[in-house]
This record gives sequence, C-alpha cells and structure tokens, in this order.
Amino acid sequence: MANAKDLVRAAFEARDKAYVPYSNHGVGAALLTTDGQIILGCNIENAAYTPTNCAERTAFFKAVSEGITDFEAIAIVGGPMSRKATNICPPCGVCRQVMREFCGQDFKIYLGCRDENENIDYKEYTLADLLPQGFGPDNL
Ligand code: THU
Repeated sequence: MANAKDLVRAAFEARDKAYVPYSNHGVGAALLTTDGQIILGCNIENAAYTPTNCAERTAFFKAVSEGITDFEAIAIVGGPMSRKATNICPPCGVCRQVMREFCGQDFKIYLGCRDENENIDYKEYTLADLLPQGFGPDNL
C-alpha cells in the first residue's frame, strides 16, 4: 500500500498533466483506493472558465465512473506552473464536499509541497479537520 510520500510523489506526476492556460495554477491529485490503486487527477480549465474541473474532482470522478467508491487517502499538490510548488494547496470547498460524499471522517488528506532542498514534504489532515460539520449522505 502506498505511503504518504508515495502519494505526494504521484500527485506531482499528475500535476505535470494540468491543463491551465488561464490561471497557470497547476494542481495534481493522487487518490488512494481501499484496494491499493492510485488514481491520478489534474485540473482541466476551459475558455468559458466555469466548466473548469479541479484536480481532486477529476480523480474522484475518474474512480467513481470506473465503479470504485472506497477510498483511503488523497494527496494534493499545486501552485504556479512556473514554480516547484513550495507552498501547500488546500482543496476548495466544492472538492471537500465531493470527498464528503464518498469518504469517512477519517479519510486522510495529504497536502504536499517541496521544501527548500526540493524534497517532498507534506501536512496531514483528515476530512473531519477540513470539513467540520459537513453535510453528507447520512444527513438526508
Ligand atoms: N484548483 C484545483 O484544481 N483544486 C482546488 O482544490 C483548488 C483550485 C484549480 C482550479 C483552477 O484550474 C486553478 O486551480 C485556479 O483556481
């Protein structure tokens, strides 16, 4: 099973595919499934702006559309494409809500970056940390 650093490394790989001609803000996500698969996602922008899809949702929607709905963790990295992502890139509210649909409170979220020596670093959160009192399927 991939560990946190493996996942962050995979998220950096995913970020290389980011389609970001408008913001130049490239985001990569690596979603770890309960059976050990890693599903990659990048952000995909659009000339009409609002159809833009975040990296995290690309990964979730790829997985769910292939019948995979059980997840352990996600790693996310992002920042201006011209730089090496030395700051963490927290998921937007919409992506947190998509996580809430499929994941438990203890779902792990690794926010990755590169330190001053370009080594991989990350901060670890749970979904409960980043979406307290969220509205989910059990509230209906
Ligand atoms: N973005 C993501 O991919 N994930 C997030 O959680 C935050 C924002 C993307 C959307 C857009 O392509 C760019 O970052 C700037 O907002």
